[in-house]
Amino acid sequence: MTNIAIFASGTGSNARKIIDYFEGSENVKIRLIVSNKQTAKVLDIAKEKDIPSLVINRTEFYQSENILEKFSIYEVNFVVLAGFLLLIPEYLVTAFPQRMINIHPALLPKYGGKGMFGMNVHKAVYEAQEKTSGITIHYVNNAYDEGGIIFQTECELKEQDQPEDIARKVQALEHHYFPKVIEQLVLQKDYSS
Ligand code: GRF
Repeated sequence: MTNIAIFASGTGSNARKIIDYFEGSENVKIRLIVSNKQTAKVLDIAKEKDIPSLVINRTEFYQSENILEKFSIYEVNFVVLAGFLLLIPEYLVTAFPQRMINIHPALLPKYGGKGMFGMNVHKAVYEAQEKTSGITIHYVNNAYDEGGIIFQTECELKEQDQPEDIARKVQALEHHYFPKVIEQLVLQKDYSS
């Protein structure tokens, strides 16, 4: 079984899609939801879906490795970042080599890096008058948005598209592809040990 921990700081719409997609799966179980925000909507989803959740404190996250103990309790062997805004500390990257992925709402390497999240990304794409945007799913290393790219797909942008329209188009891609890409990875490689 691939036991996934999903990290999210926000609304968790991607987390919900992933949870729904793997409900009843024989290969994948969402074992834990991790957030750094007590009020994150993703925690309500965890409750609704009866999935254990963990709220982490930023200082503790960086200064101790306590989260690894939690991971071993839930036998977590794969990590998915879905709108998690803190940089992942080195010990965690090292503990999950090629087993931690992130989704970014643009076509990296453009529009990535510190501060490039949420509407900041879509506004930058809009201001640059790009004809396309899209999503990037990539492995996580210890720099923002720089790990090896696993999957990208594009959407066309129209001249009249505002940042909100771009966000909507990109989100539709995220919801459609993120669970499927996770499934593909899990089918290609055995993460269960
Ligand atoms: C997504 O756009 C994702 O690409 C980015 O954070 C956002 C999370 O959105 N990393 P949601 O909380 O899943 O709705």
